[in-house]
Order: sequence, then structure tokens, then C-alpha cells
Amino acid sequence: MNKDYVDPIDYFSVWYEQAQQNPHIEEANAVNLATASPEGLPTSRMVLLKDFDENGFVFYTNLESRKGQQLKANPQAAMNFYWEPLARQMRIEGQIVPVTQAQADEYFASRAFKSKIGAWASKQSQPLQNQATLLKAVTKLAVKYASGSVPRPPFWSGFRLMPSRMEFWQRGEYRLHRRQCYTLDAQGQWQMQLLYP
Ligand SMILES: Cc1cc2nc3c(=O)[nH]c(=O)nc-3n(C[C@H](O)[C@H](O)[C@H](O)COP(=O)(O)O)c2cc1C
Repeated sequence: MNKDYVDPIDYFSVWYEQAQQNPHIEEANAVNLATASPEGLPTSRMVLLKDFDENGFVFYTNLESRKGQQLKANPQAAMNFYWEPLARQMRIEGQIVPVTQAQADEYFASRAFKSKIGAWASKQSQPLQNQATLLKAVTKLAVKYASGSVPRPPFWSGFRLMPSRMEFWQRGEYRLHRRQCYTLDAQGQWQMQLLYP
């Protein structure tokens, strides 16, 4: 039986740790990220969770990508983890804020050389004539930065999803799943409510 956590971030830490330790889960940090256009049209894609704490859930991307543009115009998002071997779904909703320049620099610096070059080379979400064009750009940039450190591209950074709603879903027998929904009240306190499955 699950313990009822007062703070959903503590609860998330436990589930996330268990997902990371699970030998059948290769990328516990892979998460679906939903955004919406200013007109309210939704779209989603996978990203990798790179950091989290009481202030939110951090991922990195190209700021000029489709998601980057949507988040600029409509800074709200939803994340959804599905850890199948644990029969768990974890949903997070809230406002989006950019990470600090320092945090983005620190994370970018930790990336492998090829990933840094990839970030520079990709005009993410723009039309690409053919794959060879991308590979040519990668080769050129790899030569350019071969002898020095690779700076973070100005168009590449991170976002923090600040949760106002978090839902923990645990599969139950006969579809009697357990749903624990945490919402932030007006005083900034988390309130937990069970939901029908
Ligand atoms: C498992 C997985 C992890 C991914 N992680 C990231 C990521 O952390 N950042 C990112 O920009 N794209 C990531 N991608 C690629 C995105 O899903 C997406 O194709 C890309 O960001 C462009 O999305 P957009 O056009 O909606 O902006 C990942 C894809 C997969 C399948």
C-alpha cells in the first residue's frame, strides 16, 4: 500500500528513484511533454527530465523549436511519465519559466562534445532538405570547435515546469487503480485528493 505523502515532490522522488533502479526501465527520465499554441491547440513530444526539486521539473531544448515557440507564447505545459514495469503513471501540470543562464551553461558544459555540436547544428523543427545537409553542418561545426570548448548556443536552453497539479496513478486489480491528485491551494499548500479511476 502506498504511504500518503504530504509533499508530492517527496512522493515523486520515491517513484522516480524506483523507476531509475528498475532494470526493465531504460530511460526513467523520458517524459511526454504537452504544450499548446496560443489558440489552445495541443501537441506533445518526448523530452528528457534533467533535474527536479521543489521548484520544478527541468528539461532542455532549442528555444526556436515548435515547443520553444509555443512555450514563449503560452508558458504552460503538462508532463506525463509512464513507467510500465511499475504500472505507474505520473502527471504534472503548471507554469513554465526559463532556467537561469548559469544553470543552462552548467548543464550544457556537462554534455558530450557530439551532443554540444548537435545542439549547434540542429535548427530544431525547421524544414530540412536532406539528412546530408545536417551531417555537413555537423562536420563543419566539429572542425570549428575541435580545439576549444563549445559555448552554449544562444538558442538552446532549459525550461522549468513549476507544478500546480501532480497526479500519481498506480494500476490496481480489476481497473480499481489508485489516483492521488495533489493541487496547490491559495496559501501555496499542497492538498491531496483521491480520484475515481
Ligand atoms: C526519448 C526521447 C527523448 C527526447 N528528449 C528530448 C529533449 O530532452 N529535448 C528536446 O529538445 N528534444 C528531445 N527529443 C526529441 C523531441 O521528442 C522532439 O522530436 C523535438 O524536441 C522537436 O519537438 P517540437 O517540434 O515539438 O519542438 C526526445 C525524443 C525522444 C523520443
